Amino acid sequence: MTDSLCEKKVKVNLGERSYDVLIGHSMLNEAGARIKSIISAERAFIVSNPIVLKLYGDKFCHNLKSAGFDLTVLEVPDGERHKSLETARKLYDRLIEKNATRFDVVIALGGGVIGDLSGFVAATYMRGMPFVQVPTTLLAQIDSSVGGKVAVNHPKAKNLIGCFYQPKLVLADVDVLKTLPERELKAGLAEAIKCGFLDSDDFISFLEEYVEEILAIKEDALIELVKRCCEFKARVVETDEKDLGRRAILNYGHTIGHAIEAVTDYKKYLHGEAVAMGMVCAARIAHKLGLTEEDLVNRHRYILRRAGLPISAPPFDPEDLKKHLLLDKKKRGGKFTFVLLRGIGEPSIESVSYDIIAESLKLCR
Ligand code: NAD
Ligand code: GLY
Repeated sequence: MTDSLCEKKVKVNLGERSYDVLIGHSMLNEAGARIKSIISAERAFIVSNPIVLKLYGDKFCHNLKSAGFDLTVLEVPDGERHKSLETARKLYDRLIEKNATRFDVVIALGGGVIGDLSGFVAATYMRGMPFVQVPTTLLAQIDSSVGGKVAVNHPKAKNLIGCFYQPKLVLADVDVLKTLPERELKAGLAEAIKCGFLDSDDFISFLEEYVEEILAIKEDALIELVKRCCEFKARVVETDEKDLGRRAILNYGHTIGHAIEAVTDYKKYLHGEAVAMGMVCAARIAHKLGLTEEDLVNRHRYILRRAGLPISAPPFDPEDLKKHLLLDKKKRGGKFTFVLLRGIGEPSIESVSYDIIAESLKLCR
């Protein structure tokens, strides 16, 4: 098989659970052969939603059939609220109805919602079916398709029911990002910028140079971006697959980000937008604590603003925000715990007093 459409390959090294993330363009046109080359299954169950199927379903299915797969498409409704046990149960019903076995393969074609949901079903149906991720949002290509966290939501909390289940292969085709709503692209870019700050000055300089090209969906810039993010995430996951230590750094910007999402009723901001504001606040906290220079705050504001992301926290009732931060504190053993940066590429996990958080937040508004 030609390597021409796959421009970059990132290997996730996890012993017998190792796999490749292949990044390129027009990759939906060679997906069948790629999957066949590593999985001996004859039947494939594609999980997707109406939006993605309308855009890419025909092309993708045609390619998989040409590679010899006997296909079943399992369509689930679009949206985070369908990442649920109820939708998982419906998927199990369809798999049972079709006599699916552990020798078939589940393929997720969609964003993070589809990837998390179908990964969870693949992990649990008959104690595990082979699973392939074909992520179609920037967020899914740079983050959720890599690392093996699969889950569904519970009415009480997101991602509460889940496990670690690595895919056999990830195929990231940047061409599909051309149809992604701009706001979703920018929200994914926020998480990519997060990777940059956690990783290195070189990564942030790359973003500063190419952010406009990324927003204009220039193929080369996107391929390089997805590769850098996946390399970074792979290195973190390889050292802490089960999220017991270092993997927590991936929550950079998330403590305040989650609180902002909560005080605005999960309606005003996409997750990535809240994380953007959360990172600026975290940089301010690090500066207030004397861990880092003000320049770090300015680098955050500069790149996030150019990426079209919000950098100032919205007006909110401080008591409301405190309530959400206290909930988070309870979950983390009674401390306000933050991932902070001592410099670019130097994350550390710190306990912070509520007064420092409140003072820093004032500066972010
Ligand atoms: P999403 O899956 O809801 O996709 C966003 C929207 O874009 C949806 O309406 C979707 O139908 C549409 N879409 C997808 N691909 C498209 C395309 N190519 N063109 C046009 N429209 C397209 O959202 P997301 O941001 O991709 O993922 C969010 C989910 O990911 C959350 O459930 C979150 O918990 C999860 N997540 C998981 C991990 C992990 O490690 N497993 C990490 C981060 C986030
Ligand atoms: N997105 C956070 C993680 O994969 O751990």
